[in-house]
Amino acid sequence: MSLVIKGARPYGEGEPVDVLIEDGVITAIGPVSVPEDAEILDAGGQVLLPGFVDLHTHLREPGREDTETIDSGSAAAALGGYTAVFAMANTDPVADNALVTDHVWRRGQEVGLVDVHPVGAVTVGLKGEKLAELGTMAKGSAAVRVFSDDGVCVADPLLMRRALEYSTALDAVIAQHAEEPRLTVGAQAHEGEKSARLGYPGWPASAEESIVARDCLLALHAKARLHVCHVSTAGTVDVLRWAKDRGTKVSAEVTPHHLLLTDERLETYDPVNKVNPPLRTGGDVEKLRAALAEGVIDCVATDHAPHAVQDKDTEWSAARPGMLGLQTALSVVARAMVEPGLLDWRGVARVMSERPAAIGNLPDHGRPVEVGEPANLTLVDPAAEWTVRGAELASIAANTPYEGMRLPAVVTATVLRGRITAREGKIC
Ligand code: DOR
Ligand code: ZN
Repeated sequence: MSLVIKGARPYGEGEPVDVLIEDGVITAIGPVSVPEDAEILDAGGQVLLPGFVDLHTHLREPGREDTETIDSGSAAAALGGYTAVFAMANTDPVADNALVTDHVWRRGQEVGLVDVHPVGAVTVGLKGEKLAELGTMAKGSAAVRVFSDDGVCVADPLLMRRALEYSTALDAVIAQHAEEPRLTVGAQAHEGEKSARLGYPGWPASAEESIVARDCLLALHAKARLHVCHVSTAGTVDVLRWAKDRGTKVSAEVTPHHLLLTDERLETYDPVNKVNPPLRTGGDVEKLRAALAEGVIDCVATDHAPHAVQDKDTEWSAARPGMLGLQTALSVVARAMVEPGLLDWRGVARVMSERPAAIGNLPDHGRPVEVGEPANLTLVDPAAEWTVRGAELASIAANTPYEGMRLPAVVTATVLRGRITAREGKIC
């Protein structure tokens, strides 16, 4: 089976070239002779990037299939340009054992639209009391290499230390949801001038920063790999810089929403804007963008968090935190980072494909667009625009904070191991 992508511009650089893909591998770039039986994908000069990798997705299967399934979430991912996603462990039952992680992996392969890598829980039931069987999950068919209690913080420093130490033997990474729970009791929104004036109980920046600082030190001493989920404050950027300068094996992600939206949104009282960690100030957003451009923050991860209408469209304090992200990520990154000149398309490939694949230990994703490399690819029309409509997204839930917004850059095709999974907004 072969595929020819005609007239694409890898990384948006240079003149358009043809890309020949045979048996899932890029075999020629340049003017290629088209095999008779080849499928043709006309790129019309669009930008060709390595397929995106999302280190942080909530797919809700098992347990809340009324909001997202591996099927619907895979479709949203493929339409968003992703070829691999990491499915967080806070399902019901929790993915704290190999039965659940192997099920998620197998189901993802059956659906076949993206590689769905399960994240294993760090502690049993996400309760923060006892380490889960990390080794069994690592040895299962899912070969789990990322562990996280995301949704809640591994708050006990001794447990976090043990998890980091144990992870080194598995060549794994511990991804921390950094939130000191004693500082966020009852919290509803970023603690600042806005929350004070509008009457939202505050979620202070120090709750994130203190855990990141502590965990960086634990990781440094354990010589372990720490990944910081959804960095949201300027202060965390300073802590990460300090830790990286000292040789800590720490990586970090930022979500598209924390790169674009601010606590100005609190004025609306619309719970679609409720998320954890909360939307921060314009100053934080500016610093997060600069840190991503510079590499202090390694990558973008969506924290795609589907929720049912009854859990979201309610009074603010009762609403669940979280927002959809898979299908809007590229466009939000284009608005926040590419349009202001903070990243070019090669930079987008770095933060949405290469770095997340490396952090998640995926050797076949996030590879350069070059001969001999696996054909996991995304084609982007940089000049196109679209209007976001939650009801039209592939997710079962519709809780997008970008409803009605016009956004730049459209994913026009996604290719997984040489097979087109999405094209012109439709699943193939
Ligand atoms: O906003 C969030 N939603 N933050 C999290 O940490 C968890 C997630 C969810 O599972 O809905
Ligand atoms: Zn989280």
